Amino acid sequence: MKKIRKAVFPAAGMGTRFLPATKAQPKEMLPIVDKPSIQYTIEEAVNSNIKLIILITGRGKRAIEDHFDRSYELENFLIDKRKISELKELISISTLASIAYIRQKEPLGLGHAVLVSEPLIDSEPFAVVLGDDIIISKKPVLKQMKEIFERINRPIIAVQRVPKEDVSSYGIVKVRKYGDRLYQIEDLVEKPSVSQAPSNLAIIGRYILVPEIFDCIRQTKKDKKGEIQLTDALKLLLNKTEIFAYEFEGKRYDIGNKMGFLKATVELALKREDLKEEFLAYLKSLKLDEL
Ligand code: G1P
Repeated sequence: MKKIRKAVFPAAGMGTRFLPATKAQPKEMLPIVDKPSIQYTIEEAVNSNIKLIILITGRGKRAIEDHFDRSYELENFLIDKRKISELKELISISTLASIAYIRQKEPLGLGHAVLVSEPLIDSEPFAVVLGDDIIISKKPVLKQMKEIFERINRPIIAVQRVPKEDVSSYGIVKVRKYGDRLYQIEDLVEKPSVSQAPSNLAIIGRYILVPEIFDCIRQTKKDKKGEIQLTDALKLLLNKTEIFAYEFEGKRYDIGNKMGFLKATVELALKREDLKEEFLAYLKSLKLDEL
């Protein structure tokens, strides 16, 4: 069986929910505490033994490339100042992963973004990671999914139960129970209304896909907004292969909206040994009714 060595990271979106912060910088570079959000998900992939990161970028995203590149000027500055631990961290970011960049030239949706990666995928299974979903877990979620793929050799989508009233923000799957945390998918619907949702199991931004998805994406019709949805392409793929849904272990933050971004910032800061004590004391000292 072919191993999963590559992960596609769609990152061409305009980030309009975070304007004006994203006017002149990519939303993927907004920091959670002190690390750009995209670095969390790339580290998850690297820790899952992914060898090639394929970043789907667009206009105005050059800061991402610079972030993962060497920066000799800054490195020399840190050497002069004898800031050795900062220097080591900086170099480790630029050697973190092999990253290939391809541009998605038109905003035609997630399905289209994945299609753009086709020339770099060839005929192997691959992962797709959506940077808006940061997932903190003992074992990286992609690693959890890779291990299941090695057992069942079928596409796998990460899912999570969401409150019924939130189903219209997600792709929703209709499933049959298959094993521990594992379900066989019978149908998928992108952003259904509460009354049309077949369940409350929502697609979260981690997928293990097979190259057959590319033909399915090509056959997928645009939705009302003129976008090609990955969920609709997966519905076509269901005619060719079984697809599984996996209820992952871990805590997920939806940093694609302001509230999720704030929660991630607070909770990840509280997980940091160097910040925890002082930050917690500050939070406890807040007089909420005076704010
Ligand atoms: C995308 C997918 C959706 C999925 C979601 C997970 O939607 O289209 O199926 O549930 O990511 O975060 P988006 O949030 O980009 O609108």
